[in-house]
Amino acid sequence: MKKILLISTLLISLSSISYSDNHYPITRDSQLMIARGKIAYQNNCVSCHQVNLSGAENWKGVDEDGHRKAPPLNGTGHTWHHDDETLHKIIKYGLVGIISDYEGKMGAFGDKLNDKDIDSVLAYIKSFWPDDYYKHQINLSK
Ligand code: HEC
Repeated sequence: MKKILLISTLLISLSSISYSDNHYPITRDSQLMIARGKIAYQNNCVSCHQVNLSGAENWKGVDEDGHRKAPPLNGTGHTWHHDDETLHKIIKYGLVGIISDYEGKMGAFGDKLNDKDIDSVLAYIKSFWPDDYYKHQINLSK
């Protein structure tokens, strides 16, 4: 009996490992993932979204080229209205790869970041969100 219990516990934990391997919802439970995401964020996103994820100043306006400015990712904007699949795609393919005729500045990072890096960046971003937005977005991503 004990053996059966052990095996089924093992199977359950194995299936949850493969589930969490690059799939949704992405949680903020792993400190390791958040730390990895922070590095990727600092190397690739800070120039526009800022070090504290607050986005460009007056982000609702447009820049000197008439393009939209980088929005905050820290929960004060609307990033948490998008599910994980959408957010992953925005980062991997850029808005340029999703919206036809897009002329803005959010480029694609698929050549610099692999899927795991992108999910880690999302875990890092989510670590800034207030609990209720986080929970809402987790439900959205299931
Ligand atoms: C060159 C500037 C620039 C860089 C670098 C950049 N972004 Fe963006 N990002 C933008 C802009 C501008 C938008 C708004 C897009 C628009 O509406 O045209 C945006 C939008 C987004 C959105 C959608 C947010 C929302 O609330 O809808 C996400 C998510 C995002 N960026 C994540 C990232 C991540 C993660 C990185 C780094 C891997 C990154 N961005 C790097 C400029 C940038």
